[in-house]
Amino acid sequence: MTQIAIIGGTGLTRFDEFTLTDRVELDTPFGKPSSEFVCGQIDGKNIVFLARHGDPHSIPPHKINYRANIWGLKQLGVEQIIAVAAVGGITSAMAPAHIAIPDQIIDYSYGRQHTFFEDGPDAVTHIDFTHPYTPSLRARLILAAAHAKIAVTPIGTYGCTQGPRLETTAEIARMERDGCDLVGMTGMPEAALAKEQRMDYAAIAVVANWAAGKTEGEISMEEIERHLHTGMAKTRALLKELIALG
Ligand code: HPA
Repeated sequence: MTQIAIIGGTGLTRFDEFTLTDRVELDTPFGKPSSEFVCGQIDGKNIVFLARHGDPHSIPPHKINYRANIWGLKQLGVEQIIAVAAVGGITSAMAPAHIAIPDQIIDYSYGRQHTFFEDGPDAVTHIDFTHPYTPSLRARLILAAAHAKIAVTPIGTYGCTQGPRLETTAEIARMERDGCDLVGMTGMPEAALAKEQRMDYAAIAVVANWAAGKTEGEISMEEIERHLHTGMAKTRALLKELIALG
């Protein structure tokens, strides 16, 4: 049976929708993952949950050990990853609390450990990254959303910034000119590392706020938390439906 994993982002530190079967702590050649791997079952299906920012939420985006997280999931036999990520909305459809299933990425992050291919026989390996999100897994998410009657935008370009600060108005304007619909801080190198490990990977992007300069005034943490609360309730329902559909 295909093992599916959920990587929970800001606003989704725990996943209580399954029956807990195990908690696995792993060390990897790349160091410690963000948290223990929480294993459980829904409808007889095995699920692994990982809190990307740790549990409790304590690791900022630029300090996440993305390699250890992906390596650990691979060791556990995971073949498909659903990444849940809080994002800022750039284009007009991406209003707070809305959900998108992105299909493209532009990477603006820097200085992160972004590949498994550094030395040894695999050092000169160039993975294909034409489709950073696995089309078949995205299609299943979009179908599950339709079944659960959750409105999602089935497409979108995710721009990954370095953080931890939010962006300037000019940076968001540039990202919009580049074609970004969404801005977040954790999509890369996570997606590329999953691809290097030949795992399917798709994301549920939950809009927490309008990106910088898209509204009057500044972005507040209170606003982010409020919209994430609504968006993550929909995300939990979407994940349950995805798993039920198999
Ligand atoms: N920018 C970057 N990352 C984010 C944002 C944002 O506005 N909101 C939630 N994650």
